[in-house]
Amino acid sequence: MPPFALLVNGRRHNVNVAADTPLLWVLRDSLGLTGTKFGCGIAQCGACTVHLDGEATRSCVTPVSEVGTSRVTTIEGLSPSSTHRVQNAWTAEDVPQCGYCQSGQIMTAAALLAQKPAPSDADIDAAMTNICRCGTYLRIRAAIHRAAKEA
Ligand code: FES
Ligand code: FES
Repeated sequence: MPPFALLVNGRRHNVNVAADTPLLWVLRDSLGLTGTKFGCGIAQCGACTVHLDGEATRSCVTPVSEVGTSRVTTIEGLSPSSTHRVQNAWTAEDVPQCGYCQSGQIMTAAALLAQKPAPSDADIDAAMTNICRCGTYLRIRAAIHRAAKEA
């Protein structure tokens, strides 16, 4: 198996896995970064969202061989102290219910705000395609607006 050199949360990791191994399993099983969740495995739910060079990416359908030199950021690397403005807004708006979808939601929201500093409701609805079985969508929207004001 070829070793893949990945840059994850600012650190270089060499992993020996098959080329078609989804990045999600490398993060969770090889690197122990379990904040990124498995939901559907078919790019539908967004629970597995990480950033590749700042772009929200569904890691369940991203083969490790396609990562290349891209910077991978997971929920563990979004902020060293878990105080990214999106995380602070999530806390202030008391967004999570069961919490399972929330790291993916936060990563998608952070990528949205990096690209669009003051998103409208329509922008948020278009970008936030992640599924939340608990129906926290209105609090997610409020938290994104709150985070946008704290830029
Ligand atoms: S687990 Fe990747 S989109 Fe659902
Ligand atoms: S908070 Fe439960 S699935 Fe979203």
